[in-house]
Amino acid sequence: MTVQTPAKAPSDAPFDQADLDKRRAAIRSGAMADEGALARRLIKAADIGDAARKRAQSDAGEFVRGARANASRSGLIDKFLQEYGLTSHEGVTLMRLAEALLRTPDAATADALIRDKVEAGDWAAHKGRSPFPLVNFSTRALMLTAAWLDEVEGDGVGNRLAQATKDLLDRVGEPVIRASVAQAMKLLGEHFVLGETISGAIKRARAYGARGYLFSYDMLGEAAHTEEDAQKYFADYKGAIEAIAGAANSHDPKDNPGISVKLSALHPRYELGKRDRVLNELGARARALAVMAREANIGFNIDAEEANRLDLSLDLIDRLSGDQALVGWNGFGVVVQAYQRRAFDVIDWLGALARRDRRRLMVRLVKGAYWDAEIKRAQVAGLDSYPVFTRKILTDVSYAACARRLLANRYRFYPQFATHNAHTAAMVRQTAALNEGQGPEDYELQRLHGMGEALHDSLIEAGVRSRIYAPVGGHRELLPYLVRRLLENGANSSFVNQLFDPDLSVDEIVADPVTEARALPALPNEAIPAPRDLFAGVRLSARGVDDGDPLAMAALESAASVSFDAAKVYASLIVAGGARDSAAECSPALVRNPADPEDALGRIVVAELADVEAACAQAAAAFEGWRATPCAVR
Ligand code: FAD
Ligand code: 2OP
Repeated sequence: MTVQTPAKAPSDAPFDQADLDKRRAAIRSGAMADEGALARRLIKAADIGDAARKRAQSDAGEFVRGARANASRSGLIDKFLQEYGLTSHEGVTLMRLAEALLRTPDAATADALIRDKVEAGDWAAHKGRSPFPLVNFSTRALMLTAAWLDEVEGDGVGNRLAQATKDLLDRVGEPVIRASVAQAMKLLGEHFVLGETISGAIKRARAYGARGYLFSYDMLGEAAHTEEDAQKYFADYKGAIEAIAGAANSHDPKDNPGISVKLSALHPRYELGKRDRVLNELGARARALAVMAREANIGFNIDAEEANRLDLSLDLIDRLSGDQALVGWNGFGVVVQAYQRRAFDVIDWLGALARRDRRRLMVRLVKGAYWDAEIKRAQVAGLDSYPVFTRKILTDVSYAACARRLLANRYRFYPQFATHNAHTAAMVRQTAALNEGQGPEDYELQRLHGMGEALHDSLIEAGVRSRIYAPVGGHRELLPYLVRRLLENGANSSFVNQLFDPDLSVDEIVADPVTEARALPALPNEAIPAPRDLFAGVRLSARGVDDGDPLAMAALESAASVSFDAAKVYASLIVAGGARDSAAECSPALVRNPADPEDALGRIVVAELADVEAACAQAAAAFEGWRATPCAVR
């Protein structure tokens, strides 16, 4: 093991704990920051000037034109997702099929699922539409399958093509369709996975290594549900670090292959409500892996997951960064999601942390892979706002601002820009070029295996360092990762989806987000109302509590501890409008916490038959009048 000299920034002022605490507090209070005000601050912070902006657009435009000219060389999956994106009903249907089929255990359910989904699509509408023959061939296969299933059901369209193959399919039967669809879905999955085992993946990585790529391996598996799952994933990571160590031969971790770790894989209750357990139990596992990575001198990167895990993850990162067993090692890395409203403040906090621990942190900047889920979660929970931006270009602006901040602090950060967007990559390069003394060894770009290959090949050709994030594992663990990739590829706002869209000009695809944001009449997206206003005009959604927000959780806890007195808590019946609350009359039962029988929660009056009968009689009597009452009055 090599000990690295701690990075020393010439301009470093002495470390100030109060400053670190202040930055952490800013993150906490900024989870749902006002989107417009924040965006205006970030637009300023992202501004690299007209000349650099123009150069970025011109470089990105050149890439897009080249990629379009060589469109036939793009992968089949890219072409397929082009035709079946999330804007078409059929694209969504295929995605649902892919998502559900991988976890359907029995053949009968799989057949029913395929019939249900494939029959629902208007595949003929896609016939011959793609410029790529193989995609059109797949469309025909789907039309055929749908028509054949239709025939079997007996209410079919009498498609001539289907009739011609019906006899054959009748003989081979539904298992053939099932096997073919399952095979297609498997291919889709394999496209994004480098290998089923770490040794297989390391072998496959060699060909890419020869082309100049570096690697960060990701052991598929996340959101452990049980301790058994968590132990399995922990063992997978340990095995992977041992294997990667054998492929690491540089003294500098950034030149070696590394590992990316999802903390949710390491503990079944990785949530703020279990903070103490998480810090102790998950913290010990993450530390053990980080120490192994340090001994192997490879990069150890903590992936960013759902927004309600962010605060807790920062607690863990704080502890790991300050751990004596990990001091002086520059392989410790974290991920920041630019779509989070807290991203810019997180970067500043990380800078202060790196200063405290006299280290150079690896920081991978991503836009974020859970956008749809974040929007949905905030709406379901009835939160006051969203933790993420509501417009794609604001995420791009935030990314640009964070990139600029990271590159400006090269003694504290080794930035790793993960993107498949040619404009974003070009903007990063232009930003780096503005910093005096910043060389190509001071940062890298990253892509996911199965995505962005042409862009990153061109970056490597131009002398930029590039690393592939390489998932490793079997189908059982693939599902959430695959769904995120399908969403990312299928969304019409995403760069990879727009690249070959004939309806979009090159200029539109490489538009500068800072310029575009400045021209917007309103920064927040009017099409996405605040979570509680989802049913505006009908009702206000009930307000929920953000279970990832330590301030909201602390307020809830203190309110509960002040007002909660088990001796006084007494739940009673309200029968026919009147409470039956005389303890003497009803002899209420004591209720105990099922997780802790010593913990008495209060008393409850249990209904008797006569109570139920009285309630039903009252309801029946009220029915006619209630039915005649207009909705608005009700
Ligand atoms: P673009 O097309 O420019 O951007 C797409 C992104 O814009 C979406 O993913 C979303 O973040 C954002 N977006 C889309 N619509 C909206 C909207 N309406 N409002 C606001 N924002 C919107 N993701 C993680 O979450 N955690 C990780 O640890 C992580 N690790 C990664 C590692 C690597 C090496 C790579 C390449 C990606 C990783 N990702 C991770 C995934 C990453 O978040 C996506 O690949 C990335 O967002 C795509 O951005 P882009 O610049 O390639 O594409
Ligand atoms: C994800 O798992 C790549 O970490 C990112 O979606």
